[in-house]
Amino acid sequence: METFKSALLPPHVINISDLRAMAKRRLPRAIFDYLDGGADDEVTLRENERAFQDIILRPRQAVSFRECHLGVRVLNHDVSLPLLLAPVGYSRVMHPGGEVAAAQAAGEFGTIYILSTVSGHKMENVKAAAKGPAWFQLYLVGGRGAAEAGIDRARRAGFDALVVTVDTPVAGMRERDPRNGMRQLLGKSLFAKLPFLSEIMAHPRWLAAMFADGGMPQLENIIVPGQGPMKLMDVGAALAQSGVEWADLKWIRNIWTGPILLKGILTADDAKRALDEGCAGIIVSNHGGRQLDSCSATIRALPEVVAAVQGRMEVLMDGGVRRGTDIVKAICLGAKAVLVGRAYAYGMAAAGHAGITRALQILRDDVARTLHLLGCPSIAALDASYVEFPQSWKR
Ligand SMILES: Cc1cc2nc3c(=O)[nH]c(=O)nc-3n(C[C@H](O)[C@H](O)[C@H](O)COP(=O)(O)O)c2cc1C
Repeated sequence: METFKSALLPPHVINISDLRAMAKRRLPRAIFDYLDGGADDEVTLRENERAFQDIILRPRQAVSFRECHLGVRVLNHDVSLPLLLAPVGYSRVMHPGGEVAAAQAAGEFGTIYILSTVSGHKMENVKAAAKGPAWFQLYLVGGRGAAEAGIDRARRAGFDALVVTVDTPVAGMRERDPRNGMRQLLGKSLFAKLPFLSEIMAHPRWLAAMFADGGMPQLENIIVPGQGPMKLMDVGAALAQSGVEWADLKWIRNIWTGPILLKGILTADDAKRALDEGCAGIIVSNHGGRQLDSCSATIRALPEVVAAVQGRMEVLMDGGVRRGTDIVKAICLGAKAVLVGRAYAYGMAAAGHAGITRALQILRDDVARTLHLLGCPSIAALDASYVEFPQSWKR
């Protein structure tokens, strides 16, 4: 197996876009596009990043301090930066280290890793690698029986919170996947794979690592009663079975007594409902533009949700975070912390553990520099007075 720490990164890798370019070179197109792409016309995917540009920073000049304090407390955990690693399904297909490498890098960095249900590594190994807090993200793939077994395992493994993703009643139409033959590549039939094999062969580093890792992984955390671990399947087929309804929360609450966060909230009404259901937090998210296209960029939805919640539960956000300034802007608009998905996954796909670590370092240095330039000594001191944003975002 490619070791989790071995890959060296050239010094010219200075931003997330550089890691994306490296990932694009290493991965076969189908895998890169699975990571990079979004739903339909990818309007929301693009808007998630672009909308940050509508926020203008308002620096306080001639303010000097030696160090700035980047830590925050998220759900009773002190983290070194207001940044968590979002659940990214099928990470082990991008790099053998996958979820274990990501959990390890997050722990070393002093932050929280959120493990996807659709993971190629066993959750017990991921939790052990995290060394610190880790949360488990729940899809109902495989039905309630499989979900109950998964939640029970997560509790016994010591996961600290459950993240229930609520924006996947069906899979979004990620058009790049069928064009690239994702379903055929993950399926059993060699014949069906034939048209796509030349593209795979053109990426020998990825292919060799995949073979050394034992081939396509199974979904180790979805044990269907009487059937064993679920086979890797096309993400559309997986998500088609994973819809969560409000009523399911009561059932989940009976088997998970720890904190629950809902991921995929975009409106004040749903945020209030989550509060009424006793959730400990919500994640303002549109699944990185991979589900409903043309829904709001998440940074744009954030002020409405923050105003509705009024500090009564944790509000996190994700979507389009590629720069330290994005993180600072989200905090100014009221998020406790952000999640990053692609930003670390590009690093993982490019170089495993070393790539994830580089992504986190880039973002941490960015945030520290931004605070200095903004004249703000700490994340805790950030507020709306440091930004100007379109008033239409407030509802
Ligand atoms: C390749 C990929 C796989 C993902 N898998 C999951 C998943 O299994 N569960 C989930 O709740 N969200 C999943 N997401 C969404 C992320 O958790 C997160 O909401 C999104 O990536 C944030 O946008 P960003 O990539 O622009 O940071 C996935 C995103 C990507 C890019």
